Amino acid sequence: MKILIINGPNLNMLGRREKGIYGSLTLEEINQLIIDEFKSSNVNMDFFQSNEEGKIITELQLSEEVYDGVIINPGAYSHYSIAILDAIRSINIPVVEVHLSNIHSREEYRRKTVTGEGALGIISGFGHYGYIMAVNALMYKRGGDKHV
Ligand code: DQA
Repeated sequence: MKILIINGPNLNMLGRREKGIYGSLTLEEINQLIIDEFKSSNVNMDFFQSNEEGKIITELQLSEEVYDGVIINPGAYSHYSIAILDAIRSINIPVVEVHLSNIHSREEYRRKTVTGEGALGIISGFGHYGYIMAVNALMYKRGGDKHV
């Protein structure tokens, strides 16, 4: 099983950015933790980060040819990017949306996720562990080979 993990704007700043909210791990450290967690399972992961909406959309469009599922943290685009929502809806593979923070316990403008309307499900508030939960969710959805 092949999964693409997409991180959107400002997530390249993890480890330096608002540590009280997002924790002190860098994105590279988070990605390594995900790889380590699943190293003995039959899932392969690729990682993509961009601060640019169009690049995220192109990556989503291309993903369907290569991957069985996508995990995306669209960052602030979650709250207003209809274009990313349309890209998620355009592909015929499951997409799980992840947020490190609990967006529902934050500012009003973060409580709505537009992109999440196209997702299979949303995981929010569990820090980097949310990505691991999302991989498990995709594996489970695919048919029982859940990693525990
Ligand atoms: C975030 C939440 C967004 O509101 C914010 O703009 C981010 C990160 C999260 O992972 O908690 O950049 O997506």
